[in-house]
Amino acid sequence: MKNFLKKKIKILTVVGARPNFIKIAPLIEELNRLNKLNKLKKLTYKLVHTGQHYDYEMSQVFFQELKIPKPHYNLGVGSGSHAWQTAKIMEKLEPVILKEKPDLVIVVGDINSTLAGALVATKLRVPIAHIESGLRSFDRVMPEEINRLLTDQLADYLFVTEPSAIKNLLKEGISRKNFFYVGNIMIDTLIKLRVKIKKSKIMKQLKLQPQKYAVLTLHRPSSVDDKKTFSKLISVFNEIQKKITVVYPIHPRAEKQIKKFGFKKRLKKMKKFIITPPISYIEMIKLVMESKFIMTDSGGLQEESTFLKIPCLTLRENTERPITLEIGSNLIVGTQKKKILNEVNKILAGHGKKSKIPKFWDGKTARRIVKILAKYFLINKQMEKK
Ligand code: UD1
Repeated sequence: MKNFLKKKIKILTVVGARPNFIKIAPLIEELNRLNKLNKLKKLTYKLVHTGQHYDYEMSQVFFQELKIPKPHYNLGVGSGSHAWQTAKIMEKLEPVILKEKPDLVIVVGDINSTLAGALVATKLRVPIAHIESGLRSFDRVMPEEINRLLTDQLADYLFVTEPSAIKNLLKEGISRKNFFYVGNIMIDTLIKLRVKIKKSKIMKQLKLQPQKYAVLTLHRPSSVDDKKTFSKLISVFNEIQKKITVVYPIHPRAEKQIKKFGFKKRLKKMKKFIITPPISYIEMIKLVMESKFIMTDSGGLQEESTFLKIPCLTLRENTERPITLEIGSNLIVGTQKKKILNEVNKILAGHGKKSKIPKFWDGKTARRIVKILAKYFLINKQMEKK
């Protein structure tokens, strides 16, 4: 990677919520590494935090643990309805892009900040790179599916984690020359922090023994915003905690819904169902790594558990990450008691799903992305000269 950047190139990266932070950390580290080696001195970046997540344990702790530098801009947008949040991010991001005049805007994942960032960049005619492109649940009730579909239509460089994404993008008319199969950048973070994760004290703090508990995460609107669905799931967890301790690091959204629906008393009676405040990245991965199995409605955890070869029961009707079903440790179990308990019993009897790690989930994804971007910048700059 020598001398290919003649002029200064500026990248603007936009992040907003927990899963974004985990995905941007390796990219920023790689840019800094190459800069230090004097190989990409002319490729600079600015980091924008939209403020979609703002609590210490939802945001700052991730910046500390993942050693992400302080953002150059924090738009301080906060919570609100989807339209309001997306619009607010757009309004506040536009002057930043106008001022910084970046050559490229990088957005990651599928949250409202991702789509807002892509929309503003497009309107200002700045090229866009999307990390984690092409994933589709084909369920338009999920706000993330809309964010994914629209962001990919706007992006110029699309970086994909698994083969299904390539198929989806081709079907949606995206040109083959615009997407790149680079693997899973979230796994870069996991591999890099593995030693620190192993040393985490979270097991001691929660008085847990390896393999003697299950981890639960549940925060999607489809799981916790409907009283009937959430209540039904709590009955299932009640049955499960009679067989094995269940640890539930709670998301603020789910906590609010528990209060609103009056589920607190019911949960208190479930003696082996432990609810904790939101926990950090290192703590979460440590808990997953040592658990018997996990239950989740999150996308990222389906991938992390596949990498760690820990059985994962996805409490949804679909997944946008089918590789985790095809070769990973993931099973779609929906929200029906019978199906969930059936799979839990299998795991407890030692018949959990065997799994393999997908291609390119190897800790080198950020390197692949930066290499591709550097190469394309060179080509574009050369074309400008002609
Ligand atoms: C967002 C993403 C989701 C991702 C999740 C990770 C979208 C559409 N969804 O969902 O894909 O899996 O982040 O956590 O972008 N809240 C706080 N403190 C915070 C942040 C949120 O209390 O720091 C509460 C607020 O009441 C807020 C609610 O959580 O209304 C939801 O937050 P929001 O960022 O809107 O969506 P998430 O559910 O976190």
